[in-house]
Amino acid sequence: MNFEFNETHVMIQEMARKFAEEELAPTADQRDEKEEFPHEAVKKMADLGFMGMMVPEQWEGAGLDTISYVLAMIEISKADASAGVIMSVNNSLVCWGLDTYGTEAQKQQYLRELASGRKLGAFALSEPEAGSDATNQRTTATNDGDSYVLNGTKNFITNGANADVVLVMAATDRSRGAKGVSAFIVDKGSKGFSVAKKEKKLGIRSSDTVSLAFEDCRVPKENLIGEEGFGIKFALKTLDGGRIGIAAQALGIAQASLDAAVKYSKERKAFEKPIANFQAIQFKLADMATNLEAAKMLTFKAAHLKDIGENYGPASAMAKLYASKIAVESALEAIQIHGGYGYVREYNVERYLRDAKITEIYEGTSEIQRVVISRALLG
Ligand code: CAA
Repeated sequence: MNFEFNETHVMIQEMARKFAEEELAPTADQRDEKEEFPHEAVKKMADLGFMGMMVPEQWEGAGLDTISYVLAMIEISKADASAGVIMSVNNSLVCWGLDTYGTEAQKQQYLRELASGRKLGAFALSEPEAGSDATNQRTTATNDGDSYVLNGTKNFITNGANADVVLVMAATDRSRGAKGVSAFIVDKGSKGFSVAKKEKKLGIRSSDTVSLAFEDCRVPKENLIGEEGFGIKFALKTLDGGRIGIAAQALGIAQASLDAAVKYSKERKAFEKPIANFQAIQFKLADMATNLEAAKMLTFKAAHLKDIGENYGPASAMAKLYASKIAVESALEAIQIHGGYGYVREYNVERYLRDAKITEIYEGTSEIQRVVISRALLG
């Protein structure tokens, strides 16, 4: 087992850290307050190759491994977890799926644009009645001549309002359940496709989360991903990798919480001493650091398994389950250490808590991660 990063990993980490500290951190709180999408920052992330990190250079991606992606995601999310999820969805849920299962023509037309970051992608699986129960798709795709006709509603779609391209799961044959769901590439601006409600959220407020509506929306047959009936396998396999990205986002938030708590505990005085001198604070910091290290190990292990072509589904579920849990706990402890100052906006730690919570919910709740892990154990 090798615990060292190679030169490329270190370079990516430094590049992401510099960018995040200079371009994201100073204004993250303002974007959170105004619920403002980071358009300029996403363009710069694209210039750095962060929007298609694992896509081969042939398709205008950065041609890097999953470890590099995790390192960059941690740095970006440490400064701004909203930017983290925008990046994660484009990389893991959109580019990876198209690179792995798309046709040559689909890659020419869509992957180049998405991996270079000239276009932004979204992934539409969730519906009002299909969250954890992902196979219960009500959106339909009717085979009609040279196209499929989509009808239905998707909800909680990250990047949905700003995406140029959306990967949409829909039932081509409701009677076949999970085997009757297919995946489609849908262009923004397609007739019958519209962005409906924008959600007001607790956290990750500068990333957009919306409902999407399809009313007799025609999608050309060449935009079907894989075969008819491949949609659920496509979505769940894609989410196996997505969960590594969300684990990394949670690590970034946990790291930010720890860094803020260490800094504040050295500065803040009580009873004529820095509060860092008190064992009550020291033990909190020690636990936060230990949990973070353990969550990193799980996440890098899942990324490594993916990079060497081994089964990484259960490992990515463990990484997301644990990293999201400790991100919430670390943010709570950071607030506790800051006392009253932690509860107000000045020190960012209340944002870390608001941002951390969603990592226990999207791309499979913690309960779903336990389903995936226990199924791997029990068969
Ligand atoms: N990879 C490939 N195929 C898989 C798979 C995987 N990881 N897991 C299951 N499958 C296959 C199964 O083999 C089965 O196919 P067969 O019948 O041919 O064997 C099919 O998919 C259906 O699987 P199950 O029978 O196991 O289905 P289930 O109804 O019991 O559900 C589940 C399984 C684990 C609960 C799954 O539905 C799940 O993961 N739910 C959570 C969905 C989720 O993560 N949603 C997040 C939305 S996206 C999002 O949040 C993005 C964002 O915007 C940030």
